[in-house]
Amino acid sequence: MNRAPAGTSAALLREGIDRLREAGSETPRLDAELLLGDAVGAGRTAILAHPDAPVETDAAGRYRANLERRAAGEPVAYLRGLKEFYGLAFSVDRRALIPRPETERLVELAQAEVIGRLAAAPREAGAFPLRVVDVGTGSGAIAVALAVLLGRRGALASVAIEAVDMSGEALQLARENAVAHAVGDAIAFQQADLLPAGGGAPKAALDLVVANLPYVRHEAMPDLPVATTFEPVLALDGGADGLVVISRLMELLPGALADDGVALLEIGADQGMAIVDRCRELLPGWSCQVEFDLAGLPRVARIRRG
Ligand SMILES: C[S@@+](CC[C@H](N)C(=O)[O-])C[C@H]1O[C@@H](n2cnc3c(N)ncnc32)[C@H](O)[C@@H]1O
Repeated sequence: MNRAPAGTSAALLREGIDRLREAGSETPRLDAELLLGDAVGAGRTAILAHPDAPVETDAAGRYRANLERRAAGEPVAYLRGLKEFYGLAFSVDRRALIPRPETERLVELAQAEVIGRLAAAPREAGAFPLRVVDVGTGSGAIAVALAVLLGRRGALASVAIEAVDMSGEALQLARENAVAHAVGDAIAFQQADLLPAGGGAPKAALDLVVANLPYVRHEAMPDLPVATTFEPVLALDGGADGLVVISRLMELLPGALADDGVALLEIGADQGMAIVDRCRELLPGWSCQVEFDLAGLPRVARIRRG
């Protein structure tokens, strides 16, 4: 252990910003602040508040090693093992996609949908709970955030949340995140292609399908920022037109959704028109309404019968 000072926070920060700027990072200051905060075991604000604080040699070594990995493109979230999503801290690593801020819109809509349904028709004791499935759960960000939010509103007992992924590794991480947020018992995890497999006791049809499935066009994969090359291809590649996996899920909806069920599907900002066309083609007689995010970009397709 080397506790000798290697320099002040301010000096190491400057060194990191210069290194990351030279490497082409778009956010060199933020990245360096987060990595230095992590290396010394303090928050970013503590780093900024104490520019003259000495940084020990060991901590400086960890910081410099992470600066080099960041300079090679590795996302800061993987280096820290942490990403904030909907105000909650999620463990993240290469087993699953790093949750993106734009997906918070999907959680917001899903929460409103569940609360609205429970308010309109409270569940009698012994009735089937509202059945919600997060398809392609990855780190568990959507299912866990939803469970935590519904728990805070005292609504969790009226809802059965399931989370599905093709990737066993991602599911492992999702389970870890659910346990860390004390909702491990509230979510049933399953490895499956799109929807949960049947089996066991007969279950009600799905009331709400929530999904952030891969939607990047296959040809556009090489144009993604280098940080995404550290994330699983299965989480990003949406096939020839970007909507291949989402379309397969849409085809399953008639057999899976309750009569008044709803699917909320995240889409790319340039897929607003394409998803409406796809719905017309695959689900004649159904409706597809596009929901926008705060920047006014298409973000979620709301799909239902009629
Ligand atoms: C874009 S990531 C989203 C992860 C997480 N829901 C989030 O929003 O951060 C898509 C996820 O879908 C999963 N996936 C891809 N194809 C799938 C399929 N056919 N069935 C189930 N999951 C799938 C991937 O493994 C990945 O975890």
